[in-house]
Amino acid sequence: MKFFLDTADLAEVEEAASWGVVAGVTTNPTLYARIGGKLADFETHIGRICKLVDGPVSAEAVGEMRADIIEEGKRLSAIAPNVVVKVPTTIEGLAATKALAADGIDTNLTLCFSVPQAIMAARAGARYISPFVGRFDDISEDGLAQLADVVLAITNYDFGHKVEVIAASIRSAHHVTQSALMGADIATVPYSVLKNLIKHPLTDRGLESFAADWEKVVNA
Ligand code: G3P
Repeated sequence: MKFFLDTADLAEVEEAASWGVVAGVTTNPTLYARIGGKLADFETHIGRICKLVDGPVSAEAVGEMRADIIEEGKRLSAIAPNVVVKVPTTIEGLAATKALAADGIDTNLTLCFSVPQAIMAARAGARYISPFVGRFDDISEDGLAQLADVVLAITNYDFGHKVEVIAASIRSAHHVTQSALMGADIATVPYSVLKNLIKHPLTDRGLESFAADWEKVVNA
């Protein structure tokens, strides 16, 4: 499984990229608003993220109608070669995905919550599909079970182009572990969660005891 960083924060992208585990970045309107982003700076900001990571950077088209999504998608994809256009999983999003794919523009179908949605996204030409785990949990459903169904359904078929499932709306190490065990291609993870994934109390305890024992060696 690859890790994407789910953020619009440049400092987070720069720091996490230095750990050697970040294969891409996903953003959305909420994440850009969270860093105080302004409309006029949006494309420049996406361009900066694209320079910091060697991999796909998802930038969301906010239009609801296909013509608007296609126009936005073309503008966003012109920012950098590694831009992927995030498109809503709707009828209009499917039509826009088909048109953008015909132009060689990769899309990431966002806000996916079911197997039929995922299969339709793949058939329309989506390069990435993002089932949202945490938000499904939020409505007292089982987000991981839904993700597992999507992973299985997508791997059952050859869509004639590469399709990768991104486990999105990831909130915990448990979500990451289970996404990996079920074979999700990618998990897009917030910085705070990614940072905690490397931590384990037994690692800390082991380091403390090694350091204490080394002191004995030094002072012997
Ligand atoms: O990649 C989608 C993600 O940003 C949504 O996460 O926590 O807002 O549901 P969340």
